[in-house]
Amino acid sequence: MGLPVLLWWSLTKLALLISFAVHTPQPQQQQEEASLLTQARQFLAVNDTDTAFQYLTQAYANDRNQPGLLACFRDVFSQRIESHDNAVDRMGLASILLEYEHYGAAARHLEQAVQLTASKSSANALSMLFAARAAVCDWTHIQQDSPALVASVQASLKQEDQTPAVHPYKALMWPCLSLADSTKIASKFARRAMSAVSVDPVPTSSLLVHKEEPSIFQVSSRRRPTNGRRIKLGYLSPDFTGAHPLAFLMQDVFRLHNTSEFQLYIYSLVESDDSLEVAKIKHAAHQWTVLPSSNAAAAETIRDDELDILIDLCGYTGTSTVAEIMAHKVAPLQIAYMGFPASTGAPFIDYVVCDRIVVPSSSEVRQHYTEQLLLLPHCYFVNSHRYLSSSLRQPQMPRTRYNLPDSAFVYCCHSRPEKIDPHTFKSWLQVLVNVPHSVLWLLRSGDEMEDNLRQIAEQEFALDKNRLIFCDKAPRDQHLARLQLANLFLDTPAYNAHTVGCDCLSAGVPMVSLLRNHVAPPDEVETDKWASRVGASLLAAIGLDDVLVAGSMEAYQAIMVHCATDSEWFSSVKERLQRNYHTAPLFDTPRWVRNLETGLLEIVALRTEGGSSYSDIEIVDNAGR
Ligand SMILES: *[C@@H]1O[C@H](CO)[C@@H](O)[C@H](O)[C@H]1NC(C)=O
Ligand SMILES: *[C@@H]1O[C@H](CO)[C@@H](O)[C@H](O)[C@H]1NC(C)=O
Repeated sequence: MGLPVLLWWSLTKLALLISFAVHTPQPQQQQEEASLLTQARQFLAVNDTDTAFQYLTQAYANDRNQPGLLACFRDVFSQRIESHDNAVDRMGLASILLEYEHYGAAARHLEQAVQLTASKSSANALSMLFAARAAVCDWTHIQQDSPALVASVQASLKQEDQTPAVHPYKALMWPCLSLADSTKIASKFARRAMSAVSVDPVPTSSLLVHKEEPSIFQVSSRRRPTNGRRIKLGYLSPDFTGAHPLAFLMQDVFRLHNTSEFQLYIYSLVESDDSLEVAKIKHAAHQWTVLPSSNAAAAETIRDDELDILIDLCGYTGTSTVAEIMAHKVAPLQIAYMGFPASTGAPFIDYVVCDRIVVPSSSEVRQHYTEQLLLLPHCYFVNSHRYLSSSLRQPQMPRTRYNLPDSAFVYCCHSRPEKIDPHTFKSWLQVLVNVPHSVLWLLRSGDEMEDNLRQIAEQEFALDKNRLIFCDKAPRDQHLARLQLANLFLDTPAYNAHTVGCDCLSAGVPMVSLLRNHVAPPDEVETDKWASRVGASLLAAIGLDDVLVAGSMEAYQAIMVHCATDSEWFSSVKERLQRNYHTAPLFDTPRWVRNLETGLLEIVALRTEGGSSYSDIEIVDNAGR
């Protein structure tokens, strides 16, 4: 067979490519990397690109940063493209380039691929091209790319047997795809997960079954488990690693569960590393299990534990196969939480944990959630920031270390650049024009991003290009320490700062976020998707929504200006943030856990009573009880 046709499907991750390498006959196990590369070169010299590619994928799996590896990948694909220019190889090469953050070069191959392909695979090329351009804030083609992408997605949604070329997670990020589209895309992926299940999954209560609107059921008192029976509560994730934000955010959540009511079964798809985060999580578990890699075997392992509830902490993020496991319906109550901030569109998920800000009650929004809602009283997004180890609480460093002027007002957005949309970026620049002593501090991505953004600043706003200051991605301790150098964090409306939002608020840096309650004006981003509403939910839970959540882009800009120009007022905002840090719900992890538990106890009780009512559960805060 030729190069794996599925390669480009995985968008930016090489997981499929690697699994291809693992599951095909290996040239020779345990090869030294250098010699794998040498052999690849030898096969390339005799024009055997297939074999050369297999050696390279193995070398990649061993050490992706090995010198010469990327160049050799490039040569393999170039040789194939030279003898026969075709879209699959262009996309294959592009996915390697994306993996190494060479976005501009990837985009050039993808443009060719779009030209070369017929309709179906051009959707994949188009989707990758959109991602490549978004990653470096190249918006020069967005007026054509967006409608083309939407059209291709909608065409694939109409086809029973087609999976959309846009991954559900990207659908949340890209403004041209609506809330309705994003749920439909997720549903397609759920369907695909279910098609791999041989046993009949139990049909569950979801909008796919229920056509009527759910009732809302308020829960203000906690039902204790009867007969001293403890609830068997499972959590499932591929992200229990020190590097992943999920383990970082949830590291203290598990130990705060009431162990006389709950027995914790924690399932990881990866071997544990030696991080403090994972150590805490393992320690809190009644049982810690690393699941086998086959989905069916993993499902069997979980089912054998006879859980009452299983919480999926991943959804469709990354390249994980958690949905494939959940599709086996391994627990009577399956809940989605945290990893995927949207509806899963999956009939095998009974509830999704959220709050009234991220999923407002209006039926225009509610109808796009297929699960029953488990509504927490405050922000659904949990964190463990209050318990961060002292190594992550570094003292402030001098601004010069990051080329930040000492006296300037520093607007900062350390979110991934693909979250920035052109309209919002230009509103930031307008504020830089209006506030002369300010700079904008951004996270760098790829080679071209800096130039792309500086060009807009210079050409459209006549700003000195040095008003934009870029920094590289940094390890977590540095990231947290340097955030303190900023004055105001700017939330991105298309996909808010979730983890980074908690980071900046806990560092004492206020954040301004946009949350519109009406349809967006032309060119502006809608904020009806869940991922676009988390910033406001964080700010409400720290008691700053009245001053830092803007209802329109004009208000958002006005807040930005006000923060930089009215220092007395801004100091009072910062003082409030510091005060509320200790008292408000946002960083009160025990309170969050108690509220979640109240919900879990309720849904288990409802199920035991045999009720088949279809309702959203709204928890009334039990703090102080
Ligand atoms: C290399 O192999 C491909 C087919 O795999 C063929 O089309 C091409 O002509 C070959 N090139 C050379 C220089 O032999
Ligand atoms: C834990 O649960 C038990 C049994 O329901 C209850 O008696 C106890 O008060 C709970 N502990 C806390 C700290 O809430």
